[in-house]
Amino acid sequence: MPQKALITGITGQTGSFLAKQLVEHGYEVHGTTRSLGNLPWRLQHFGITDDIHLHKLNATNFSEITEIAAHKFDYIFHLAAESSVASSLKQPTKTVMANVVQTTAWLEAIKNVSPECRFFNAVSSEVLKASEGPLDENAPRSAKNPYAVTKLASMNMAQVFRESFDLYIVNGLLFNHESELRDDRFVTAKIIRNLCLLSKDPKLAPFELGNVLAERDFSHAEDFARGIVASLHHEIPQDYVFASGVLCSVKDFFDTAARQLGFEPQWVGEGLEMTCRDGATGRALVGINPEYYRPIDELGKAGNATRAHTCLNWTPTVSFEDMIGRMIAYQRSRIE
Ligand code: GDD
Repeated sequence: MPQKALITGITGQTGSFLAKQLVEHGYEVHGTTRSLGNLPWRLQHFGITDDIHLHKLNATNFSEITEIAAHKFDYIFHLAAESSVASSLKQPTKTVMANVVQTTAWLEAIKNVSPECRFFNAVSSEVLKASEGPLDENAPRSAKNPYAVTKLASMNMAQVFRESFDLYIVNGLLFNHESELRDDRFVTAKIIRNLCLLSKDPKLAPFELGNVLAERDFSHAEDFARGIVASLHHEIPQDYVFASGVLCSVKDFFDTAARQLGFEPQWVGEGLEMTCRDGATGRALVGINPEYYRPIDELGKAGNATRAHTCLNWTPTVSFEDMIGRMIAYQRSRIE
């Protein structure tokens, strides 16, 4: 009998990489989706739509969640969420419903109808407090935006269920994970898409970013998907940081991508006056718009994934440059 896995958020970036890996490993893969109407483009991209059992779900409907949990999956990977910090600032109540109420409903459902199921809960580096060194699972917590508040609550709830009801539950403290399948609400995909458009059309006007001095620890989502699967196969249920350990500014990301596309990025000005031009042609590539700034954007958060290395034998395989190369190649193929 194949092992049965359910992925909530299967149509998203990381859910799709996870689905591909599980299908390749011979799992019977199920996923939840808000609507069965449109074929999920990321699953189509991997050519695995026919291998997936999709369940329509209104994400905060407790009886629908219980009904799906009653299929008695061996593994549930809970990735469905409002995952954008920017959106959470605009719609905090919706974010609480998607991230806290929904996660709690899944935990309660598995406790009631499928307590043998191993459950992965996707949490975020946004719940960790920035400090000098890389942050591990014991780093102090801090939540500086509605998204972070909800992820911290969902993590606490998952820990309470693990300790109180003896369930196999893992929280993944996921630092930024990007890929060719990222959507351009997020800064890396926005940069790649706009630079590719600029490179194709020499007359195109520059685009706008927010705080380019913001720093993140970027990895490829495919690597995280591998770690997430491994995290539910360890002897003990525990939480894991997944990260590269390397800090990089949005500006560094932009410069690396721009160079790969043949531009020579040259920044001038400070703060809201910053702009970047192509040194070879003098053409403006990007400017700053305060609309994209966050009220609070903590600097200096790199992750320490030693526990994942030691316990799961997990190491990232896609380099920063290769990740950007893959994002560019995919984006170019879409706009040509
Ligand atoms: N989205 C966006 N758009 N961000 C911008 C822009 C812009 O135009 N300009 C600068 N930024 C900065 C943001 O201020 C932030 O510091 C950084 O780029 C990354 O923003 P996002 O790509 O939106 O991602 P995030 O770091 O807020 O959240 C992502 O990573 C988390 C893990 O650290 C998401 O994937 C979360 O779901 C995830 O938990």
